[in-house]
Amino acid sequence: MNSVEVPKLYKKYFIDKDDERKKLFKMIYDIYKPQKGIYPGSFVHITPSFYIKEMTYIDSDKRIAKFFDNENVLNYICENKNYSDEPNIKAFQGDFSSLLAIDENSFDIMFSFYAGFISQSCKKYLRSSGVLVCNNSHGDASLAFTDEDYKLIAVIKRNGSKFRIVDKDLDSYSIKRDGTHIDRNKVLKTMIGEIFTQKAYAYIFRFNPK
Ligand SMILES: C[S@@+](CC[C@H](N)C(=O)[O-])C[C@H]1O[C@@H](n2cnc3c(N)ncnc32)[C@H](O)[C@@H]1O
Repeated sequence: MNSVEVPKLYKKYFIDKDDERKKLFKMIYDIYKPQKGIYPGSFVHITPSFYIKEMTYIDSDKRIAKFFDNENVLNYICENKNYSDEPNIKAFQGDFSSLLAIDENSFDIMFSFYAGFISQSCKKYLRSSGVLVCNNSHGDASLAFTDEDYKLIAVIKRNGSKFRIVDKDLDSYSIKRDGTHIDRNKVLKTMIGEIFTQKAYAYIFRFNPK
């Protein structure tokens, strides 16, 4: 039985919605072994800290300052973590595209889920050969496809709380259903992702800046 109270916002927005995505972060950890991750637009989605010992969270929502200040959050992470070291958690309440006191070129992995153009605004934080995991809900994956600093290395398929990482036959994931090229300017303007022949829940890119 859990002895630490589940942080209320995490319970409301992730556990109660069956959207913690634990299996996803476990799979990502097992394959890429990231030691240091950054999650712009995270809100209170602390699941990565169950697997990655050093995590930086950024969100403009005012509630996150109080959330991360509560020692119960750290205790909850400690109770759920799958590594022996102490977790190292940093949280920034602010715009992820603004100047923040975060080390550049230093993160092994960056997450971008439903929060905007993180592949572009925050790429300075990724180290060379680091990994970007992003979805296409606001068009971030569409932008990463048109950015030569990123190369698709796998896709993530989702079925409820089950996830699968696929690294074969990746070409069709960036081919648009209507046969035209990705319109980067349109994505930037509308924040709507392009529609591809094959859909994925999220996309995994290797970052190799040119
Ligand atoms: C729909 S929630 C997604 C939360 C989480 N990434 C997930 O997968 O459930 C989008 C979050 O992105 C944050 N956000 C959007 N634009 C942002 C920005 N420019 N800077 C910081 N946070 C931002 C919002 O405050 C919100 O908490």
